[in-house]
Amino acid sequence: MSKLDSSLAVAKRDSFSSSFGVLAATLGSAVGLGNIWKFPYLTGANGGAGFLLVYVLATLLVGLPVMIAEIMLGRRAKTDSVGTFKKLAPGTPWWLIGGFGVIAAFLIMAFYSEVAAWVLAYVFKAIAGSALSSDPAHTSAAFSQLIHDPIQSLLWQWAVLVLIGGILLMGVSKGIEAVTKKLMPLLFILLVVVGVRSLLLPGAGEGLRFLFEPDFSKISASVVLTAMGLAFFKLSIGMGTMLTYGSYFRDDQNIPATTLRVMTADLFVSMLAGIAIFPAVFAFGFKPEAGPSLLFITIPAVFANMPLGHLFMVVFFVLSAIAATGAMLSILEVPVSVLSERFGWSRAKATVLTLLALMAIGATAALSNSVLSGFKLFGMTMFDLFDYVTSNVLMPIGGIMLCLFTGWVWGPQRFREALSNNGKLANQPVLSVLFLVTRWVSPLLILVVMLKGLGVF
Ligand code: PHE
Repeated sequence: MSKLDSSLAVAKRDSFSSSFGVLAATLGSAVGLGNIWKFPYLTGANGGAGFLLVYVLATLLVGLPVMIAEIMLGRRAKTDSVGTFKKLAPGTPWWLIGGFGVIAAFLIMAFYSEVAAWVLAYVFKAIAGSALSSDPAHTSAAFSQLIHDPIQSLLWQWAVLVLIGGILLMGVSKGIEAVTKKLMPLLFILLVVVGVRSLLLPGAGEGLRFLFEPDFSKISASVVLTAMGLAFFKLSIGMGTMLTYGSYFRDDQNIPATTLRVMTADLFVSMLAGIAIFPAVFAFGFKPEAGPSLLFITIPAVFANMPLGHLFMVVFFVLSAIAATGAMLSILEVPVSVLSERFGWSRAKATVLTLLALMAIGATAALSNSVLSGFKLFGMTMFDLFDYVTSNVLMPIGGIMLCLFTGWVWGPQRFREALSNNGKLANQPVLSVLFLVTRWVSPLLILVVMLKGLGVF
């Protein structure tokens, strides 16, 4: 991990020092608000277990192959996401994959930093004890008061962006990442504790059934697209983060095995979050389809019903903020590395300009529940639009392009060489199947799901 940090802050083209470091850094990008906030809210809004099942299938059939291909190309080229294709396929337009990725990174950060802003605000609310209540009406009101206040929404977002900028500029990401690595197990433990408490609430069984007993009548084309979009978002793929992280991978790292581990651990965290939230949703009479507010209204209610709930709530939101930080650093790594390596800017200049641009774009997301609530495109506020378009359009298109490049330009020979570490790993039969999936199954599946989900046919 420490090698990535120095590369984030000063030098370039360094690599991870240990195979545990690779795993931790990649997991640090994957695990974030996607598990704690987005997974529960989408599962709640899209019918529960059926959605979960489609999400797991999408992760296996699409997420895994795309992630492996992306890391493989990144490791081979060892440069930023645009430069990867300039190097591997000079004189062709494939670099546009990287270009679209930069746009996606900006749009993701625009709304992600606002959710991180709510989390940060909740750290302070938790300390003050103001959002903690066993009365569902009170927790809902506390959250809606925060998001409807334009000044608070904006200031907390700026605080997040300044904090993240500070980490990148001061090069203290080493410390942050070290802290992240140590504190993540604590997040798991706390999720287990909240999960157990949630399960013991009267009426909790209904929440478990919602999460694990599929009702297939709720699965529509748009639900399938949303589940697939979540798989992209969760694994940080299709927009360049994994190309960039792949470029820091060691040459002897087993890419398919590492990817499988990251995917499994990430799913596990999401399941824990689901078990912490859904029983409480039903026990307290919240609506599972509450949308982006779900985390912020249910969790305080669960804590209010626990001994030491006040303390636990502070710890929970601090840990969520830390998880969000790892993910945000990996999103920012995409534009910052492209700007510095393509245009020869210093990392400081690239970072400052990226964050200034984000303050402008992010403001439209931050104000989506207040002054800009009437400003809609395709029937969505800017917050919802950025959330929807990145996961359901931009990242899937990036995924298709990565599969096509890998399957048709890169080819079977180099694919097997790269992923077996030049024959050192005995995984050739698996790679032959994986190649066919990457060449045919994943891109076709993504295309059909996307077009059908968007209502094109
Ligand atoms: N995977 C991260 C999460 O779940 C979000 C993310 C998306 C990070 C895209 C990097 C790139 O929170």
